[in-house]
Amino acid sequence: MKWRIEIDKVMGVVYKSRTMMTLPEQIARKLTDVLRSELDGMLPEGFCAVVTASQDLRYGDYQSNAAMALAKTVRRNPRELAQAVVTRLGDMVEAEVSMAGPGFINFRIRAEEYARRMVEMLGDERLGVPLTEHPKKIVIDFSAPNVAKPMHVGHIRSTIIGDALARLARFMGHVVITDNHIGDWGTQFGMILWGWKNLLDQTALEKNPIEALLAVYKEVNRRCKEQPDLLEACKAELVLLQSGDVDNLTIWKRCIEVTKTGLKKIYAQLDIRFDYWLGESFYNDALAPLVEDLMERGIARESDGAVCVFSDGFHAPQDDPFLVSKDGEWQSVPAIIRKADGGFLYATTDLATLDYRIREFHADAIWYIVGAPQEKHFKQIFDIARMRGISGDFRHVAFGSILGKDRRPFKTRDGETVSLQDVIDEAVERAARVVQEKSPDMPESEKKVVAEAVGIGAIKFAELSQNRLSDYIFDWDKMLSLTGDTAPYLQNSYVRVRAIERKGGTPDFSVFLSGNGRMLLSEEREINLARVLCRFSEITPITLDDCRPNLLAAYLYELARAFHSFYEACPVLRSEDPVRSSRLTLCEITARVLKLGMSLLGIRMLEKM
Ligand code: ARG
Repeated sequence: MKWRIEIDKVMGVVYKSRTMMTLPEQIARKLTDVLRSELDGMLPEGFCAVVTASQDLRYGDYQSNAAMALAKTVRRNPRELAQAVVTRLGDMVEAEVSMAGPGFINFRIRAEEYARRMVEMLGDERLGVPLTEHPKKIVIDFSAPNVAKPMHVGHIRSTIIGDALARLARFMGHVVITDNHIGDWGTQFGMILWGWKNLLDQTALEKNPIEALLAVYKEVNRRCKEQPDLLEACKAELVLLQSGDVDNLTIWKRCIEVTKTGLKKIYAQLDIRFDYWLGESFYNDALAPLVEDLMERGIARESDGAVCVFSDGFHAPQDDPFLVSKDGEWQSVPAIIRKADGGFLYATTDLATLDYRIREFHADAIWYIVGAPQEKHFKQIFDIARMRGISGDFRHVAFGSILGKDRRPFKTRDGETVSLQDVIDEAVERAARVVQEKSPDMPESEKKVVAEAVGIGAIKFAELSQNRLSDYIFDWDKMLSLTGDTAPYLQNSYVRVRAIERKGGTPDFSVFLSGNGRMLLSEEREINLARVLCRFSEITPITLDDCRPNLLAAYLYELARAFHSFYEACPVLRSEDPVRSSRLTLCEITARVLKLGMSLLGIRMLEKM
C-alpha cells in the first residue's frame, strides 16, 4: 500500500488502522448473507443490502428496505421475503429484528452491543471512524482571494469550508494537498501600478498591506471614472507589466509579497495552512503552448479572432456546458481561451492549473471550493479535461451567498463588502465581551485565548452548520449565543463534560479495555447517548463523501443535546460503581468525540471557559 505509507508521513500521526466495522456495515453484511442463502442463488451479483439509521426510533435504531428492493427481481412478495429474512436473523447478537409495513426490516440494537462498542471506542483513537478503503490524492483549491482586490464574503465561505474538507479528508486517510490559487495576475494591476507610483502611502502599506492596496485600487478606480485618460495610463502600465518591464515586475512582486504576508496573518488566526500558493501567474508560461495544443488536437478553434472550445456533442443538450437554451433553441456558449488581442483568460489558467496538478502532483481528485456563480466555468473546465482524455474526481464544491439580517447581500454599514479581517476582529471582540460578563475573574491572558477560540469558532460553526448551497443570514447574536446550534454552546458543553470528569476522578478505563469489567447501560437516556456516540463513525465518512460539513455540525449538536439529557436523567457522580464508572466512561467518550469532531471542522475546544 504505497499510499498508506505516504499518508502516515503526511499526517504525522499514525492513526490506528481500521479494526471496527460501523453498526450499519456489520448488519448489512449479515443481512446480505441471509438474503443470499434465503434466495438460493437468485441474489443479483454484487448486491449488498443497504442499512440506514431509522428516522423514527420507535421502530428501531436501523432499518433496511432490502427485501422491498429485491422483491421484484426475485419474484417474491416483499412482506413475505422480509418475514423470511427476519425469521432467519432472529438470533442476531447485536440487535432484535422485526418487520414493519410493506417489508421494512427494523433493527433495535441491544444495550450490550452498545456497551461493547463503547469499550471499542474507548480504545480507538479514531473513535470508531474507519479509514477510507480507497485513499486518493486530493488537491483542495480554496480561499483563493485576488491580490489588491477586496477579499469578500465568498472567500470567507471558501476558506472555512475548504479547510474543514481538507481536515476531514486527511483524517479519512486521503493524501491532501491544499493549494491557494490566488488571483495574482489580473487587469487590476494596471490601476495598482499607476496608484503605487502616484498615490501609495508607504507607511500605510507597512501597517496593513491588504487594506492599503485596496484603498489604492479603489481610489484609482474612482478617478478613472472621472478622467478617461487616466484609464489609458493604467492600461499602459498593465501592458508594460505583461511585456516584462523590470520596474513594473518589481512592484508587482512586492504587491504579492505584502498581500501574502497579510493573508498569512489572517490564516494563522484561523488556524489554516496551505501546502502551496500557486497563484494564477504561476501558469503564465504554460498558457500559449496549451492553446496551441488544443488547436492542434482540434479541441479548440478560432472564432472571430478569438480561440474557443465549443461543444463536441458528447452530452445531451440539457447536460452540455457549452449550450444554453434561449427562446426554445440551443445556443452555443463556448469557453474562450484566447482573446482576439492575444490575451488569455481565467479559463485558460484553470486548464493549465488542472494539467499541472495531474502531472506534477499526480492528483486523483481536485476539489474546487468556489461560489455557485462559477458553476458554468467549472463544468466547462471539467468537460474540456474529458475531451483531452484526462479523468479524475473533479468537483466544484459550490456554495451560496451570505446575507445580512435584512436578507440582502452582507455589507458593512457604509455599504462596503465585508472583509474577512473585520469579521474576525469583530467576532473576537464580541466574544471577549461575553467572556468578561460570564467570567470577570479569569486572568486576562486566559480571557484572550478564550475570546479567540469562541469568536473564531462561532464564525466557523455558523458557516459550517449551513447547507452550503443555500444562502445564509449572518447574525452575530445567533452565532455567539450559548444556546442552540452554535460553537459556544458546543464548547461550553465540552467544558461541562470535562468538569464532571474532573470532579468524578478518572475511572480505571483499563478494567473495561482488558475485558475484566463490563460497561453497564440500562437507562433509556444512557443507551441513547451511546447510540448517538456510535453514529460518529457513520456520519464522518458521509460528511466528506458529500462535501457537506453541515452533517457533522448537526451531529455534534445532537450529541451535545443527548449528553445534556443523559446528564439530567442519570446521576453520574452520585451513583455507585459499577454504574458510576460506566457513566464516567460515557462522559469521557462524549468529550473525545466532541473534541475530535470539532477539530475536524477546524474549531478548538477549551478545557475551561
Ligand atoms: N480568485 C477566484 C475568485 O476570486 C477564485 C479562484 C478559484 N480557484 C480556481 N482554480 N479557479 O473568484
